[in-house]
Amino acid sequence: MSIGFGDQVAIVTGAGTGLGRSHALELASRGAMVVVNDLHDERTDGPSAAEQVAAEIVELGGLAVANHNSVATPEGGAAIVAAAIEEYGRVDIVINNAGIVRDGSFAKLGVDAITSVLDVHLGAAFYVTQPAFIHMKEQGYGRILFTSSGAGLFGNFGQANYAAAKAGVVGLANVLAIEGARYNIGANVIAPAARTQMNEGLLGDLNDALDPELVTSMAVFLVSSECTLTGEIYSALGGRYARIFTGLTPGWFAGVGARPTADDVADQIESIRAEPGYRVPTDVTTEVAELTRLHGLEQTE
Ligand SMILES: NC(=O)c1ccc[n+]([C@@H]2O[C@H](COP(=O)([O-])OP(=O)(O)OC[C@H]3O[C@@H](n4cnc5c(N)ncnc54)[C@H](O)[C@@H]3O)[C@@H](O)[C@H]2O)c1
Repeated sequence: MSIGFGDQVAIVTGAGTGLGRSHALELASRGAMVVVNDLHDERTDGPSAAEQVAAEIVELGGLAVANHNSVATPEGGAAIVAAAIEEYGRVDIVINNAGIVRDGSFAKLGVDAITSVLDVHLGAAFYVTQPAFIHMKEQGYGRILFTSSGAGLFGNFGQANYAAAKAGVVGLANVLAIEGARYNIGANVIAPAARTQMNEGLLGDLNDALDPELVTSMAVFLVSSECTLTGEIYSALGGRYARIFTGLTPGWFAGVGARPTADDVADQIESIRAEPGYRVPTDVTTEVAELTRLHGLEQTE
């Protein structure tokens, strides 16, 4: 095993089951001290799911502590990060993984389905990551992973709330990659698919192929010190790993001083859309630099 996490502290949200549980177990097996966060259903007897995962880790010789704060509020996010610092003295890794779905076609989507899903996925990405990011800046190291979804990046019928939240975390990761760079803080995104309670019975023929552990391999690499990639999105499902990105086509330039009309745009739409020669901007200045060049202007720093 070359990727190790000795002396590192990881927070994995929603880690009582599914993908988060798998991430937590693998990180711990590689030496990380893990805060296993998940909600505690007070109506059930016995240890919570998070406590069970933490106990499993300890039984295997690792270090873990359960935490039951909700990721969906600023207070909950702060408490999760505080728990890591109180227990283990630092936070090196945050895997934002907790999630819910409240599906419904857009026309029928109620306010509660919209806000609850936005809070657990996109709100939480801020609430948990911000206090951790402040701490990571001070220590000069951090690895942050957001969990997106093909539904958000490519679209899926009946998941407008979930898709918007899952696309939103990409915007946050883009900015954290830029703001975190000088502090050795990496921020990436994973778009997984796996057999979990979230999609039980929905996977058809692929059910057996979609082990959560196959996603964890990519997640664990992305939060390791070996990974210096940042601001990137990786698809991981069923043993296939791929990069997803936002590309910018070369487009069509109307010319300096030109005033193209809607009809001109219509005439040119195929060359505007054409993908050959696309670029993958690393920040917003890429487009500005391109336009500056097209206009024959000097680049200014
Ligand atoms: N399973 C897939 O195919 C798939 C596909 C794309 C994206 N995802 C994403 O991966 C992540 C993990 O999903 P999963 O499939 O393992 O689902 P899961 O339902 O097995 O696990 C999600 C966990 O998050 C916890 N959670 C929910 N709300 C919470 C809150 N407010 N605070 C703390 N914990 C909370 C749940 O209790 C649950 O244990 C989610 O973000 C999901 O949207 C999963």
